[in-house]
Amino acid sequence: MRRPVVMGNWKLNGSKSMVSELLSGLNAELAGVTGVDVAVAPPTLYLDQAERLIKEGGNKLILGAQNTDVNNSGAFTGDTSPEMLKEFGASHIIIGHSERRDYHSESDEFVAKKFAFLKENSLIPVLCIGESEAQNEAGETEAVCARQIDAVIKECGVDALNGAIIAYEPIWAIGTGKAATAEDAQRIHASIRAHIAKESEAVANQVIIQYGGSVKPENAASYFAQPDIDGALVGGASLDAKSFAAIAKAAAEAKA
Ligand code: 13P
Repeated sequence: MRRPVVMGNWKLNGSKSMVSELLSGLNAELAGVTGVDVAVAPPTLYLDQAERLIKEGGNKLILGAQNTDVNNSGAFTGDTSPEMLKEFGASHIIIGHSERRDYHSESDEFVAKKFAFLKENSLIPVLCIGESEAQNEAGETEAVCARQIDAVIKECGVDALNGAIIAYEPIWAIGTGKAATAEDAQRIHASIRAHIAKESEAVANQVIIQYGGSVKPENAASYFAQPDIDGALVGGASLDAKSFAAIAKAAAEAKA
């Protein structure tokens, strides 16, 4: 059985007061909720504050981050290392988000290097993959996802996916309100799992595959009802404690 993981990617949103309000809200909303791992990835500057608030709330939340460098120290201006993330209690690290691939020209190979370095540092990569609207319309979705995963398998071997998380996020569904249907998402998730199974069935069976892209309390349950959708990576709706908690509760209920 795969334990569902619901993660909030706050992107470039936050302030001291917002972090405090959102995490206090989540600490309250998630009281008594079991059967789901709930993680948040605030902007790096707020990790310290978030770590303290999560501890105060009894560690109901897992702390994550939105990116990592591929070095632990040195002359790399503006970057954040796995060791630093670890020191602030962050364990689940998002890499390869389409916003980083697009706006920072991160290649499949560079993302694979990040994956390898996170594993080397005993952190959990949350590897984002997914196709653009044009690729979707051209029927290339499965091939794009396979290519993005193959870069990681080539760099680290299939066993590196043990304990890691994959987030399938169709780019056209991110922040648009135009979510993939649960049936379409299930089909792609199954194809991703089948692709990994060609290398290792055991790894494919245990790997968590989240769906991301306009997940809301209103559509969350339909995704979690699908056998290959093991959670969600949530953007906009993760900035509201009640909405994000409702999504986490839907995952716990569906997978119980
Ligand atoms: P939205 O939930 O806002 O569509 O964002 C999804 C996302 O990009 C999470 O990483």
